[in-house]
Amino acid sequence: MGKYVVAGGKRLDGEANIHGAKNAVLPILAAAVLTGAQSVIRNCPDISDTRCSIKILRHLGCSVDYDGSTLVVNSAGVNKTTLPCEAVSKMRSSIIFAGALLGRFGEVDSAFPGGCLLGDRPIDLHLQGFRKMGVAFEDSPDRITGKANKLQGTRIDLTFPSVGATQNIMLAGVLAEGTTIITGAAKEPEIVDLQGFLRSAGANVSGAGTSTIVIDGVKSLRPAQYTIMPDRIVAGTYLAAGAITHGYIRLNNINRLDIYPATRVLADMGVDLWSEGSALVLKADKNLSPVPLLKTKPHPGFPTDLQAQFTALLATVKGRSVVEENLFEARHAHIAELAKMGADIKVEGDSRFIINGVSRLHGAEVAAKDLRGGAALILAGLSAEGITTVGNACYVQRGYVDIVADIQSLGGDIKFISSE
Ligand code: UD1
Repeated sequence: MGKYVVAGGKRLDGEANIHGAKNAVLPILAAAVLTGAQSVIRNCPDISDTRCSIKILRHLGCSVDYDGSTLVVNSAGVNKTTLPCEAVSKMRSSIIFAGALLGRFGEVDSAFPGGCLLGDRPIDLHLQGFRKMGVAFEDSPDRITGKANKLQGTRIDLTFPSVGATQNIMLAGVLAEGTTIITGAAKEPEIVDLQGFLRSAGANVSGAGTSTIVIDGVKSLRPAQYTIMPDRIVAGTYLAAGAITHGYIRLNNINRLDIYPATRVLADMGVDLWSEGSALVLKADKNLSPVPLLKTKPHPGFPTDLQAQFTALLATVKGRSVVEENLFEARHAHIAELAKMGADIKVEGDSRFIINGVSRLHGAEVAAKDLRGGAALILAGLSAEGITTVGNACYVQRGYVDIVADIQSLGGDIKFISSE
């Protein structure tokens, strides 16, 4: 598993480059299966979820060549529509391959992705969308086995802007007969990135980034070339690291608009932020203001994937802040760990966190319980007095290519100790 050892108390002063987005690469790799051709995908982050997706691609019959950044995948030889059990159990989001397989072959067979530490994570909206397009699913509590003669474009009204359901239906619609219209679609930047890839492969998709996406089915796709967008959650994590250490940092390769929901909060807290080309510079001093109510919401609201990191930040800001988690029912495992470091946070229900900021956290032995919660503990460690060890590093490695190198280059004192 391995752990991070963080020596706290150093003001960050340095710069880091932001790598490609985890949540963009997974749907785009699934989309590569649709093309039946070669795709060259640049800026693919070398994280465990990318490696797991490569296993799925190879299992399905794709040839894949990956140098740690550029991924060349040829899906001409795909000869299976069953997803490997191990991948589905490791990576919930592998359900995104269902839309691509249904779109290209009219069938899919997969284990049911279970819940996770963030709570129950249903996929009813994905399945409802597929059904409306003509897929019939076998009646099974633990498998998703679906077939359609030919997917039919139709209008699908999402009752909640689910990121995964929006992407899955987009994928299913690309080669379907006629026009698919998704209303109530998620507007996350990663959906715009998926549209960008699909268009480069010859798909007729428009509207991503708004609540209505229109997909006119095409007969076939062509080889594609695409560069994955920068990871806005990694950028937001490092901005929070800069703020929690009252630092002065520069992050290169950022799309400023994509991270506006986070920078707006930082600006309200009194953090200075300015752009220099595609870089963003942050300067924070000691007197930051608490946030009366920070609610996570679908984009362009504040992202749930930055909730834990900002909770850690607010735990060190004097005064009362309230954080409300509205996307996932139980995304609070980091709070008990932060308490071991002296944070004063009360959890009301499962989703409202009342924070009384303390002037200083202290180092402790804590453990990551999930990806972003693990990153939050590292940030807390950077600001704390003394040494913090963060166990279960493998969770953090799912979303950050090399958080140790990045934080070191930002001027933080952190090292990784392998458990082997
Ligand atoms: C994606 C991101 C994840 C992020 C989340 C919300 C990827 C790989 N993951 O996850 O990092 O935290 O968006 O921004 O891109 N829901 C249903 N029924 C469904 C689908 C979802 O009730 O069929 C609910 C979920 O339980 C959850 C909420 O909708 O409470 C948000 O889920 P969704 O937007 O689908 O998130 P993911 O695509 O799983």
